[in-house]
Amino acid sequence: VIEDLTPIHETTDFPVGVAIDARETVGGAAELLNRHFNQVTHENHMKPEAWYDDERTFRPHEQALAVMDFARDNDLRVYGHVLVWHSQTPAWFFQDADGQPLTTSAADRQLLRDRLRTHIFDVAESLSERYGRFGSPTNPLYAWDVVNEVISDSGEYADGLRRSEWYRILGESFIDLSFEYAHEAFNDVHAVPGSDPVTLFINDYNTEQSGKQARYRALVQRLVDRDVPIDGVGHQFHVSLATPVSSLAATLDTFADLPLTQAVTELDVTTGTPVTQARLIEQGYFYRDAFRIFREHTDDLFAVTVWGLTDGRSWRSANAPLLFDDNLRAKPAYYGAVDGD
Ligand code: XIL
Repeated sequence: VIEDLTPIHETTDFPVGVAIDARETVGGAAELLNRHFNQVTHENHMKPEAWYDDERTFRPHEQALAVMDFARDNDLRVYGHVLVWHSQTPAWFFQDADGQPLTTSAADRQLLRDRLRTHIFDVAESLSERYGRFGSPTNPLYAWDVVNEVISDSGEYADGLRRSEWYRILGESFIDLSFEYAHEAFNDVHAVPGSDPVTLFINDYNTEQSGKQARYRALVQRLVDRDVPIDGVGHQFHVSLATPVSSLAATLDTFADLPLTQAVTELDVTTGTPVTQARLIEQGYFYRDAFRIFREHTDDLFAVTVWGLTDGRSWRSANAPLLFDDNLRAKPAYYGAVDGD
């Protein structure tokens, strides 16, 4: 039985989302989710590797569809994650027919551009076949992380970009191409005519830290200057109790002058171990301050997503980083998030 508490999404003017897989679409978890959230993200099952079987054949993952069906049936929006990434992507994307790494020859570059375009269009086509065109009432998908984690963790490169396989073969152009193909697939070819239904994001982590933030800001500025069809800037905000919460406000302010919206895409707050009652209470204050900042930035915010429903299901579960415990009970973190409304 779910506690009779104020729904989080009723305390904000932006959608509040949660990362899930099919396990959260049934039973008490589904009930808790439906009460507090009005948006979902696939934690893993729309990542590049999830779309291919062992024979490299494209097919939607059954868990991707289970989450989409659940969202459609419960009036939840879907914030898609992720079209292009260096991680959780099939190795063969970057190999030739003999399994050798692609080179930077014109032919190999063209091969990788074709794979990028085909991947994005196959995703769009398979989802629109099942849910209708993007922008129609039966299709809940309304945003994508188009590229994820393209910024380098180190300051050693002039362009600030991660040296991934995408980058090695195509250079910075893979970022522009990803947005161009996504715009064409989701907002034109497979969209309700005349609508622009899917909001296209770049996404990264540690954007609340100064070096990464400056490199991110510089790339986004270049994309805007080149008229790349990017709509928004995503901040993962995988933070800890040691993170100054004021840095979240400073981050949103840094990007506020751009002609783009912003999203908090993967929020969680690690306590450090051992997880003590004192730390859980401190975490409650952190979530309170963070959600106050988000409410103050409502005009710039597309949505806020927490990276999991319950602590045990978190990718950082040892640090109890989320709003609800494994008995589906609200933690101090929940009371913090809805406080100050
Ligand atoms: C994580 C998932 O939560 C894990 O289940 C998976 O094993 C690895 O990926 N940045 C991202 C997310 O953009 O996709 C990652 O999700 C967390 C870090």
